[in-house]
Amino acid sequence: MENLYGAQTFFLCLEDESGASLGVFLMNSNPMEVALQPAPAVTYRTIGGVLDFYVFLGDTPEQVVQEYVKFIGLPVLPSYWSLGFQLSRYDYKSLDDVKAVVERNRAIGLPYDVQYTDIDYMEARKDFTYDKEKFQDLPSFQAYLHDQGQKYVIILDPAISIEPLSDGSPYLTYERGQSRGTWVNESDGDTPLIGQVWPGQSVFPDFTNPECTSWWAEECKTFYDEVPYDGLWIDMNEVSNFVQGSTKGCEDNEFNYPPFTPSIVDRLLYSMTMCMDARQKWGRQYDVHNLYGYSMAISTRRAIEGLFPGKRSFLLSRSTFAGSGKFTGHWLGDNAATWDDLKWAITGMLEFGLFGIPYIGADICGFSYNTTEELCRRWMQVGAFYPFSRNHNTEECAPQDPAFFGADSVLVNTSKHYLNIRYSLLPYLYTLFYRAHTQGDTVLRPLLHEFYSESATWSVDKQFLWGPGLLISPVLDPGVEVIQAYIPDAVWYDYDSGANIWWRKQWGGPAPSCRQDGTAPEGWPHLPCPAASHHNCGK
Ligand code: GLC
Repeated sequence: MENLYGAQTFFLCLEDESGASLGVFLMNSNPMEVALQPAPAVTYRTIGGVLDFYVFLGDTPEQVVQEYVKFIGLPVLPSYWSLGFQLSRYDYKSLDDVKAVVERNRAIGLPYDVQYTDIDYMEARKDFTYDKEKFQDLPSFQAYLHDQGQKYVIILDPAISIEPLSDGSPYLTYERGQSRGTWVNESDGDTPLIGQVWPGQSVFPDFTNPECTSWWAEECKTFYDEVPYDGLWIDMNEVSNFVQGSTKGCEDNEFNYPPFTPSIVDRLLYSMTMCMDARQKWGRQYDVHNLYGYSMAISTRRAIEGLFPGKRSFLLSRSTFAGSGKFTGHWLGDNAATWDDLKWAITGMLEFGLFGIPYIGADICGFSYNTTEELCRRWMQVGAFYPFSRNHNTEECAPQDPAFFGADSVLVNTSKHYLNIRYSLLPYLYTLFYRAHTQGDTVLRPLLHEFYSESATWSVDKQFLWGPGLLISPVLDPGVEVIQAYIPDAVWYDYDSGANIWWRKQWGGPAPSCRQDGTAPEGWPHLPCPAASHHNCGK
């Protein structure tokens, strides 16, 4: 078992074809293990807090989500521009390198609204600094993007280096926080806990401390005055730590070594994070660990409101908790350039719709490993329909921005085609977000939310809807040109041709080939095999 980036202790259950549904939320931020039993039962093993269960009943699954989301906090309405396509990568070598990517993607006429810089822009990976050599023109980068109507987003990590700057001068962000006592402390409640993250030895801001929130907002403002930006991307906020617990390790006590440890990485509660007896204003790490990203999103939203009064701006967080959607969007974290992860992204996005975080996406073309032209092409096609649509890549991997594949490449043409569809439908997408924001509707929607009376929709996890009206049925396998898609019982039109689709309430489209052993290809359990190679379900 591995840890997840956040804690979302909610599940939805559709009872039958009538649509009657229920949702169960356990409001508890302690370490826990949840097991789905073969019988209709769920087992929770939580090792702290209160057994604070909420049950939501509804006539439809969508209604249950609305009730739950109204309870935990209706999601923030994203700015219109953040519905545009976005480009990012870890390991831009310099600002010139970033600009070359911007220029080549502008040159091919790609619909593209947002450019990021990852930790590379920083001096020695320290927040609120920038590399004065490789990124010396960063202060004018926002203006360079604004010139062409584009926006600029920067990354910020929670860990604050305790070391001076490379020229020996004090790192003022750290000094100011230190004098205001804004860090997470060791078990004595007084000594800042030291861990190790991107910038080396670091302290962790305690975002549950109001003093810390104002320090953070002021740091965001001071940096903005030097390097203006349009939105913030907050990362590593689980909180992630490269050493176990702290540079001193952790004491042998009931918090660090409880009698029962849920099934998590290393079977050690403080693995890759802080000691569980560390102290924050809201309480002990043991109780509040799962709220770190949530509290950082609240503080960062405050900072954004101060910087851009009256504007919605942009916030993206890796770690979330129930209610995070009120403050931030989310991406699914470090995926891989694999066909499996292309598929899993749909499941992940559908889940976050239920959790009230509709501004959701996965790194298009895959974060780790080198992508391939075919995988990236398919990923750009489906990614054009992610509510949060960003192509992002890790260090040392080959570039994967569309223009890299060549101005006249198939990948570029198809990316433009599908992004243009996205852009023509932005008013619809925006309206869906408005409804999410005002009444808790899902944006990216599972088929079963609209067609619960058709049991065939219940297991569909390779297609999805935008609201009630747009059905997206992507290719998610290599070497495949045609797919079988489930067409629910409604009138549908093919988007490109406008033609009425005449089959309904069945799997339609030309059938992919069965495997040689006569079994159905992965992901298409409904395909009748071995006769499938001659079978067209549409006829
Ligand atoms: C983390 C993030 C990833 C980012 C990297 C460097 O792995 O999840 O998106 O590129 O850190 O900042």
